Amino acid sequence: MTPASSNTPGFRIVDRLGQKPQPDTAAEIAAGLLSEPASISPKYFYDALGCRLFQAICELPEYYVTRTEAAIFEAHRGEIARVAGTRRQLVDLGAGDCHKASCWFPALDPCRYVAVDVARGIVEAALAEFAAEMPGTEFIGVIDDFSRTLDLGGVLGPEATTFFYPGSSIGNFTPDEATHFLAQVRKHCDAPGSGLLIGVDLVKDLETLERAYDDATGVTAAFNKNVLNHVNRLAGTGFDPGMFGHVALFNTVDSRIEMHLEAAADCAVTVAGRSRRFARGERIHTENSYKYTPASFAALLKRAGFGTISRWTDARGWFGVFFGAP
Ligand code: AVJ
Repeated sequence: MTPASSNTPGFRIVDRLGQKPQPDTAAEIAAGLLSEPASISPKYFYDALGCRLFQAICELPEYYVTRTEAAIFEAHRGEIARVAGTRRQLVDLGAGDCHKASCWFPALDPCRYVAVDVARGIVEAALAEFAAEMPGTEFIGVIDDFSRTLDLGGVLGPEATTFFYPGSSIGNFTPDEATHFLAQVRKHCDAPGSGLLIGVDLVKDLETLERAYDDATGVTAAFNKNVLNHVNRLAGTGFDPGMFGHVALFNTVDSRIEMHLEAAADCAVTVAGRSRRFARGERIHTENSYKYTPASFAALLKRAGFGTISRWTDARGWFGVFFGAP
């Protein structure tokens, strides 16, 4: 009996959000709303309700992204694990409840699992559960917004590292930002056997793309409009979400789905103490979701410093899973 250790959580948390001074959220939101055209960063979608609406989106018949990626992972689990290697340190970027990574635990058998996410409570709950089941793995939660800088100081050991970045979250970056971000990831991949396992949504017919972001049930419209509730709480803007309509369109020139909120009538909100008017039909740009071809994403990975690339897709070629090694 070792009663002293029966209460140890089996994981540790490194809270960088608590350590670093955070940029002024209200000022950042004001700057976007005062721009022409106005914009709101997609990171503000994810308040408590927004997270639940996004979970609902993932179950929509029109939103093929999540289930197509899961099917590719499922179909090629063994082969992907052979390419990535086992007993690596697994770094999960945007881990959330760690569900997607946990499906890989048996095949990848990580020596260390590092969950990076802004949501401390959700990460803590997940790590407590998995740490109890897997005594041979070290569990660390890094609470941080890694989209600015990927700070893994004091967290990674000398072992090879597998980075895990699923869900086509990379699509919220412009291609230049994505290249820069993945080049930062590449810098952590010098130990032989390291690499990046990433899921990316692919270009497909316009109808399928646009329906995925404008579903018949209106869940994505609710998700988009809810950003205004969150912004009201963060910046005191006083938006009436009912005054704005949901717009989702595929911009073929830039190869991206764009989401906007369009004013149904002239209206005004308060931004940084002043009145910001929106004319009827004026739009607030809320999200870009870039879509790649297998070749264009492989080229992006090469630019980021991943010279050896493996790739898996579904039968329709709708979604791509890539493993990039230096
Ligand atoms: C979480 C950024 C991958 O772009 O498909 C889903 C977000 N927006 N429906 C995506 C989203 C509207 C999603 N990502």
